[in-house]
Amino acid sequence: MGGTMEKTADVIAGVPVARLETIRAREAAAYAAARPRTKAALAGGTAAWLDGVPMHWMTDWPMPFPMLVARARKARLSDLDGQRIDDFCLGDTGSMFGHSPAPVARAIRRQARDGLTYMLPTEAALEVGRLLVERFGDFRWQIATTATDANRFALRVARAVTGRPKVLVFNGCYHGTVDEAMVALHAGQTVARPGLTGQVADLTRTAVAVEFNDLAGVEAALAAGDVAAILTEPVMTNSCMVLPEPGFHDGLRALSRKFGALLIIDETHTISSGLGGYTAVHGLDPDIFVAGKCVAGGMPTAIWGLRDHVAKRFAAYNATRAAGHSGMGTTLSANPMQFACLRATLAEVMTPETYAHMEAGAARLEAGMAAAISRHGAPWHVVRVGARVEFICAPGPLRNGSEAEAAHQPAVEGVVHTCLLNRGCLIAPFHNMMLVSPVTSMKQIDRLIAAFDATLALLFGPDEAQ
Ligand SMILES: Cc1ncc(COP(=O)(O)O)c(C=O)c1O
Repeated sequence: MGGTMEKTADVIAGVPVARLETIRAREAAAYAAARPRTKAALAGGTAAWLDGVPMHWMTDWPMPFPMLVARARKARLSDLDGQRIDDFCLGDTGSMFGHSPAPVARAIRRQARDGLTYMLPTEAALEVGRLLVERFGDFRWQIATTATDANRFALRVARAVTGRPKVLVFNGCYHGTVDEAMVALHAGQTVARPGLTGQVADLTRTAVAVEFNDLAGVEAALAAGDVAAILTEPVMTNSCMVLPEPGFHDGLRALSRKFGALLIIDETHTISSGLGGYTAVHGLDPDIFVAGKCVAGGMPTAIWGLRDHVAKRFAAYNATRAAGHSGMGTTLSANPMQFACLRATLAEVMTPETYAHMEAGAARLEAGMAAAISRHGAPWHVVRVGARVEFICAPGPLRNGSEAEAAHQPAVEGVVHTCLLNRGCLIAPFHNMMLVSPVTSMKQIDRLIAAFDATLALLFGPDEAQ
């Protein structure tokens, strides 16, 4: 059975807890011992920040204290203590094309001479529009600053043109801090996710959660006739990694048409799939397309586009809308720096050659990790979508968010992360995600495979391997 594994008190993900604790303590000490300057700097410099860090998730990393980054080049970071780390987290996709790609860095230097924001388009914007169509398809595009914003605006359009209130999302999804996506499925009921800060609105009035890969569940939810849009990633990348089963996307498309709901595909992570994202590589046909994070090479930028038929319905809606705030757009969005970076990324970075290198490297990483898992007899598995690879500390494949939740093993994953970091490799903190960029070398990939193999030897090898 995919993904479910017994979580007992003395063994987690196949690892005895006592052994895990020994390794955890030793690796945490090794991390700290290698970073005396960082530790001293943090001791004197965190009081001004809420919880000691400028963004709360910086404390979610598994190491005993944050790494202070001194610089990032290509696919490598250096920290305050001079430790050089191969970066497979890549800003959780923001730097998927490598840190400061040269064409983007040049565009930033050029644009910095001509102003940073003025609420008017530039000539580059016109070219960006053409490039967006060329790269992602025939949509009517808009720019936002974050993928969260892009999703929010896409949902407003979907509600406006359908006149319906609800959004269908998949259990375990993440689409940024979008309210409607902050629901889960518990015992067949849509509920607000526990832990939401300051939540007062009843999210179950505006959202319905269904399991991924469950077309019957989707049909039942859509049949109520109140769903404006399905908002989904093509592959669930935010709760372990869950691949669509054959026919799932065709079924979603057919059902959304049958019941008059729009299909919004959020490619913010699956843009790793290849040129044009999963949509182009696998021939999906969304009504609205969203992507963010790396689309402008790391400059905060997101894109969202409407198919012509949606754009026409939106124009008709706007013709009747009362004057006033639309609830869409933010002051710094669509600024000239974003156009400059989008143009550089779309034209010079996001190329077939780039993706070919990423794909080959990620396939090598996937194969190397799968071989290590099998060599050590770990009850784990590896999944990949293009340049994005994830190991999961449970058997697979996983079919949906509930199975992914059961497979998620934070205690083991935290130890693995620190072990890898102590061997010079950084992976994404919240789950076990690794990206291969166009500037990630095969040597770096082999070092990560070796570090993973050494970590599995600690966790699963004979006692003396520790
Ligand atoms: C699929 C997906 N969509 C949207 C977002 C939101 O991106 P941002 O945090 O840049 O707004 C994320 C963030 O991880 C994501 O994974």
